[in-house]
Amino acid sequence: MNPAESDTEAQLLKSLPEHLAPFGTERSNLIPILQMVQKHFSYLPAAAMEIVARHLDIPLAEVYGVATFYNQFRFTPPGRHPIKVCLGTACHVKGGDIILENFERKLGIRDGETTADREFSIERVACVGCCALAPVALVGETVHGNMAPSKIEGLFTRIQVEKEMAQRKKRENEPDA
Ligand code: FES
Repeated sequence: MNPAESDTEAQLLKSLPEHLAPFGTERSNLIPILQMVQKHFSYLPAAAMEIVARHLDIPLAEVYGVATFYNQFRFTPPGRHPIKVCLGTACHVKGGDIILENFERKLGIRDGETTADREFSIERVACVGCCALAPVALVGETVHGNMAPSKIEGLFTRIQVEKEMAQRKKRENEPDA
């Protein structure tokens, strides 16, 4: 996590109790509360889970028990470039699992994890609605169809080039010190 992200997360944690107040303290509100927390942080940070447990006056294990039951919740922050690999039927038949494995090997993380620098995360997803392009992967909002292991390296090169161009543009727009 870079310092700016860690500051933002600290600020969000600080303001969490005031966002919890409108939900009241009924334990039946746990799921809407977890949804709100995930909306704020894009995942469920451990520190936020503790605040939720205290707010509802229930054991932390119960909060985790409910959160882990539903696959809508994630416990690691998404990367700045979230990678979603489709493993719906059409993509699976065309080797989606091999694409997933190649992304995992390239980044050194598994499905559901995020790289230490928070640049990339990998997630398997169900059909994303463009089966004609199977196998499909998404990087951010961009759909990459007819994926093949040989295309993965080029995809990372493109992300790196785009990042460098954005940084250069930012520097050019900065007023001279
Ligand atoms: S199964 Fe992958 S896009 Fe439909």
